[in-house]
Amino acid sequence: MKNLRRRRQIDFAAAIEKRLVDTVITATTLTVDLGIRSYPIVIGNGVLGEYDLGQHIAGSDCLIVTNDTIGPLYLDACQRSLSGKAVESIALPDGEEHKTTDTMHLILDKLVSMGANRDVSVIALGGGVVGDIAGFAASCYMRGVGFLQVPTTLLAQVDSSVGGKTGVNLATGKNLVGAFYQPDVVLIDTNTLSTLDSREFSAGLAEVIKYGAIVDADFFAWLETNLDAVIARDTDALIYAIRRSCELKAEVVADDEREQGRRAILNFGHTFGHAIEKLQGYGDWLHGEAVAAGMVMAATLSGLSEKDVERLRALIAKAGLPVAPPPLATDDWLDVMAMDKKVQNKTMRFVLLYAIGDATVSDTVSVDALRSVIEGTQQ
Ligand code: NAD
Ligand code: GLY
Repeated sequence: MKNLRRRRQIDFAAAIEKRLVDTVITATTLTVDLGIRSYPIVIGNGVLGEYDLGQHIAGSDCLIVTNDTIGPLYLDACQRSLSGKAVESIALPDGEEHKTTDTMHLILDKLVSMGANRDVSVIALGGGVVGDIAGFAASCYMRGVGFLQVPTTLLAQVDSSVGGKTGVNLATGKNLVGAFYQPDVVLIDTNTLSTLDSREFSAGLAEVIKYGAIVDADFFAWLETNLDAVIARDTDALIYAIRRSCELKAEVVADDEREQGRRAILNFGHTFGHAIEKLQGYGDWLHGEAVAAGMVMAATLSGLSEKDVERLRALIAKAGLPVAPPPLATDDWLDVMAMDKKVQNKTMRFVLLYAIGDATVSDTVSVDALRSVIEGTQQ
């Protein structure tokens, strides 16, 4: 697989411009810089169906993994982007509750029934659930085959499709089984967001705001001015917001692919957010909604100036997201957060802000400080 991937080490940006030169669709490209596993992120309005995904595929066999909501909308266009390849598809049941090893087995069984070899490529067409399951299946099948991401939710476009985290849930917890497995390309068609409902769109905005909050004060300020245009799904504003989010994530991932250190800042608001999801019961609040309230809590815990906490709160509210957690017992919060994946040597770690655009990871947060934030920020 390494050799196959090495052969794909070409000047992606030049190749992509050439492939799209005869069409009226324009695309912008950036690279996730991971040495021989580097890959391009191609972003444009209407690129799905126009852009040639086949250039990132070593063999001829492909399996598009989608679900029963997204398939009817975008499977045809995805197949057009794979013209000349032998394409099969599988539609998974829709929903986080299906992000399981059983569902992953459906993909593995399909690959076996296709007689797929190591040169097969798996294409994830969907949101973060499809991307995470399909990526994990691609990482396991014959110890790793080609993997392409075609994310169709805002959250997947700015977060889950980039950076190589794949996996499924166990009954005992979210994302407990998985692998770091980078895709060969990420193709983002902003036009797919036209069918996404506004609640899911807002949930994706939480992650967009997160990038400004943790690493780019200028982007945060840009969002304060331009969020209305992004929410209206103005093409230029949307492409800028998605591109900048992907650039910022790519830069952090290139620095620390396997989350040995700095990558943990991408979890800003997530320790509180995961606790909300777990305590409420998954599916009540969307992930992005829980992260949004979690970011306000984490900013408060950071001791950020009230002016900056208010800027964050205002931007989150403008995005149509909750700025406060639901009322939940403080001891339940503390129990759940003690199980967070960021816990090391039994010490809780939190992503805190020195200022907007400047994050750090701290393992010195006291239980008293946590109690005060939990009790002070609840609805
Ligand atoms: P999702 O995949 O469940 O998609 C949300 C809903 O939107 C689904 O019903 C889906 O079918 C539908 N949908 C998707 N695209 C659509 C479109 N264009 N038009 C209409 N409907 C569409 O949810 P999500 O928010 O995309 O992803 C959440 C998942 O991502 C979680 O499982 C989370 O753990 C995971 N995640 C992974 C990473 C990572 O780094 N791998 C990061 C963040 C989140
Ligand atoms: N979504 C957090 C990460 O990719 O590390």
